[in-house]
Amino acid sequence: MNRLFRVKSLDQLVGDTKRPELQLRRTLGPLQLTFLGIGAIVGAGIFSTVGAAAAGGDGHAGAGPALAVSFLIVAVACGFAALCYAEFAAMVPVSGSAYTYAYATLGELIAWIIGWDLILEYAIGNVAVAISWSAYFQQLLGGLGLPLPAWLGTDFRSALQAAHQVAQAHALPAALAALDPGVLRDAHALADAPRWLGVPIIFNLPAFAIVAGITWILVLGIRESAGFNTTFVILKLATIAFFLVLGAKYVKPANWTPFAPNGLAGISSAAAIIFFAYIGFDAVSTAAEEARNPQRDMPIGIIASLIACTVIYVAVAVVLTGLAKWNTLDTPEPLASVFAALGMNWTAGIISAGALMANTSVLIVFQLGQPRIFFSMARDGLLPPWAARVHPRYRTPHVTTILTGVFVAAFAAVTNINEMVELTNIGTLFAFILVAVGIVVLRRTDPARARPFRTPWVPWVPLGAVLSCGYLMAELPRVTWERFVIWLVIGLGFYFGYGVNRSRLNEGSRR
Ligand code: ALA
Repeated sequence: MNRLFRVKSLDQLVGDTKRPELQLRRTLGPLQLTFLGIGAIVGAGIFSTVGAAAAGGDGHAGAGPALAVSFLIVAVACGFAALCYAEFAAMVPVSGSAYTYAYATLGELIAWIIGWDLILEYAIGNVAVAISWSAYFQQLLGGLGLPLPAWLGTDFRSALQAAHQVAQAHALPAALAALDPGVLRDAHALADAPRWLGVPIIFNLPAFAIVAGITWILVLGIRESAGFNTTFVILKLATIAFFLVLGAKYVKPANWTPFAPNGLAGISSAAAIIFFAYIGFDAVSTAAEEARNPQRDMPIGIIASLIACTVIYVAVAVVLTGLAKWNTLDTPEPLASVFAALGMNWTAGIISAGALMANTSVLIVFQLGQPRIFFSMARDGLLPPWAARVHPRYRTPHVTTILTGVFVAAFAAVTNINEMVELTNIGTLFAFILVAVGIVVLRRTDPARARPFRTPWVPWVPLGAVLSCGYLMAELPRVTWERFVIWLVIGLGFYFGYGVNRSRLNEGSRR
């Protein structure tokens, strides 16, 4: 029992990062860290899931023009969590993020659970973003007259569902005409796919390829990656500015009424989905060992990127729901399709290209974060030692970077985006809650420790994080909860089969 709740002292955690063979390169300043945050945040959420959140679908009610309210609610929840992350990131500038914080406060078992849970945020989140990337990429290819064969651009389940929808609509020409072009395309995938032993071969090639390419860049080194990231962030912010400035000219105020067609239920269920759009400010903390001055710059990076994104999102929600009737927004590329519907195809094309870049930069940050969490877990002995190896020349955790790349690319090739978004959200919200609890625990157990950044109004802010994140979790569907619990049970199996006996904290107790 004692073993399960043993904590790793903060001095030991920070001391580990000083071992020369386990050193990462310190190159990032405050602006680069804020950009890393924005790079992680603005992506598939604001460019894709925002449509379904406004219009509803898949058994949930849409927010309508009140989408801006959903964004504000989620911003408050994330704000509470960000203040907690900032205290930890400044105090424990170690690359494992919430996993490391939990190890120092709540004990090894909870730390393992968080580390395992963060795979949902980072790796599964990236699976969703890679699928969104692929959708925009295929749209651009189509626009250039070079469409990809349908069986190379989707997953088996989506193809099966689409074929089913088309079969049902067949009797009714009007229903067939009303189907989304994407559904018709996916339905073709099933008919056109080559077969192997009678099984149709269908997979998402662009989603697989983009993850493979990014993995290769990241093995080469963080400085190069941060440079790429800054460029992409500037381009995607320019794309959103373009959307807002041009969109403001075409807004029809009549579209804003009724403001909340599904009331609070619609606003809440949309909030649970668009939470995905905010995920990422916490990813800044995984770069703590690569920051030049983590004590000062980690809180700046986390909070500045969250504020910037909130302003951008509320503005996009207001303009988007003013451009078209809320119930027509459920497309995979709503920011582009509102302009396409106005006959402005060039504008739609430019926005699609921007979305592609946005998703690329999100992919980079999360592919950067996940290996660093594995790296920390391996350094603590909870994962095998080979996972903590640092490349002798590039100074990057290359083994875990490649492992993450293979996992994310393989899942992105065969899964469905909506399910991945919901699973990501539940895992991330759970991590936020545990981090908030950790702040309160550490204030009691180690009150004297220097806190370069202090979360204000403890315990109220952490309590706010627990309640608001719990409310968003409760809005997610039952099947997501089931998958989440299964995932955690598998993780516990690994811990009791390996980590509990190999933990480096065992060395201390044997002496
Ligand atoms: N917030 C990130 C996105 O929306 C995960 O793509």
